Amino acid sequence: MPLFPPVVSSLLYLVAAVCFILALRGLSSPKTARRGNLIGALGALIAVVTVFLASRLENIPWILAAIAVGTAIAWPIARRVQMTQMPQLVAMLNGVGGGAAALIALLELPHAADWWTRLAIVLTLLIGAISFAGSVITFSKLQGILSAKAIVFPGLALLMVGVLVVAVAAGAWVVTSGPFFAAVAVLVLGLAVGVLLVLPVGGADVPIVISLLNAFTGLAVAASGFVLGNVLLIIAGTLVGASGTILTRAMAQAMGRSVSGILFGAFKGGSTAGSTEASDRPVRSSSAEDVAVLLGYAQKVIIVPGYGLAVAQGQHTVAELQQALEARGIEVEYAIHPVAGRMPGHMNVLLAEANVPYESLKEMSEVNGEFKQTDVALVVGANDVVNPAAKTTPGSPIYGMPILEVGDAKQVVFLKRSMRPGFAGIENELLYEPQTTLLFGDAKDSLAKVLAAVKAL
Ligand code: TAP
Repeated sequence: MPLFPPVVSSLLYLVAAVCFILALRGLSSPKTARRGNLIGALGALIAVVTVFLASRLENIPWILAAIAVGTAIAWPIARRVQMTQMPQLVAMLNGVGGGAAALIALLELPHAADWWTRLAIVLTLLIGAISFAGSVITFSKLQGILSAKAIVFPGLALLMVGVLVVAVAAGAWVVTSGPFFAAVAVLVLGLAVGVLLVLPVGGADVPIVISLLNAFTGLAVAASGFVLGNVLLIIAGTLVGASGTILTRAMAQAMGRSVSGILFGAFKGGSTAGSTEASDRPVRSSSAEDVAVLLGYAQKVIIVPGYGLAVAQGQHTVAELQQALEARGIEVEYAIHPVAGRMPGHMNVLLAEANVPYESLKEMSEVNGEFKQTDVALVVGANDVVNPAAKTTPGSPIYGMPILEVGDAKQVVFLKRSMRPGFAGIENELLYEPQTTLLFGDAKDSLAKVLAAVKAL
């Protein structure tokens, strides 16, 4: 027997929906992000508990067992995951959500009384399956199980369109007369479309596709809300769909690419994954002590963090260096590129971990005009986001991407381990400019050496 009358459960769903909206609002700023996250989790808890108390559920022991198994798998993975592996985790969690929505829709088919519900079932099946299979491929690419480059073969585009057309035809059959095996066919064909859609996406575009598939999962969940007659699923799914779409567009814009170019660019022969070979052209390298002198006698320093800072886990050391320089009266800021690192907000989260004040973080549009008055730009494990090829080399995979104009600073210091390129796999001419110095080594070690030398000045 349900414990609540429907009106109480509707009110609790409303509370959960408001929590989700407040969560998104909180997540829009680093200051309130943690609170936003907690409010979202509270909303999810209210939603789940309401389902148990307000519905006439069958098989409760099985449901609890499934929740226990899911928790036992997800909890340790989420605790152990490195921040640099976060995109993979998001891809997997997202894919599982789409897959779950598709399976639920399939099992609801025998109970669907009208064509309208069957249409919602077909949409959930198709979109959920695409999201699941696509997410497995993105995960495999980022994890190195599959090549990170675009995988294309002759006839791929035709095959994908063909499979999609057959899937839509099978879906139409399900809507009109509803045979179960046709619904299974929609599911299987949807999985194939997901694989074929994501295989040709390579390099820097993979994380953007994760965000797009996230939006797909939102749509699948919203459609499953129609199937189950659950308003909260419709609201939550729509929020995920809308925010995923906005994020996808923002990331694509920050990289100077179009979403269609990302999905279908490889069919025209363009791939964003380049070489990983180290260049052997001569550069000016120096010691930690020399870098400390440059920094310690500057008036203004801008630190440009990138993916390498996250790999080295050098955020605490860079924050200490900032304090040491500020103690000498030097103005220090961080220039944050929207796609520095491997996920949106990567650098903000990393620096927040080391309690770097938010006021010290400057967005690209704010800071770019300041490099001209900057004595030293200290580039820590960043490469593509400062690469002038984005402006000067048409045809380069990053051409059109707005960059941090570190070349305008009087001196540029790169902290990196080797002459290997960044994620896009292309040379960075700035490394060879006369005002550029390189300090080779792991970013955390180099920062610690520079810090010690600054303190000794
Ligand atoms: P990258 O261009 O990938 O450059 C990272 C640099 O860090 C490399 O030069 C690497 O050189 C160095 N590095 C790696 N490990 C290091 C360590 N332990 N110590 C010191 N240096 C280390 O990074 P970026 O400038 O942050 O650019 C991000 C890239 O990811 C862009 O191409 C962007 O389009 C792409 N991307 C980002 C996102 C989001 S949302 N953030 C999404 C999709 C794609 P060595 O190997 O020589 O050390």
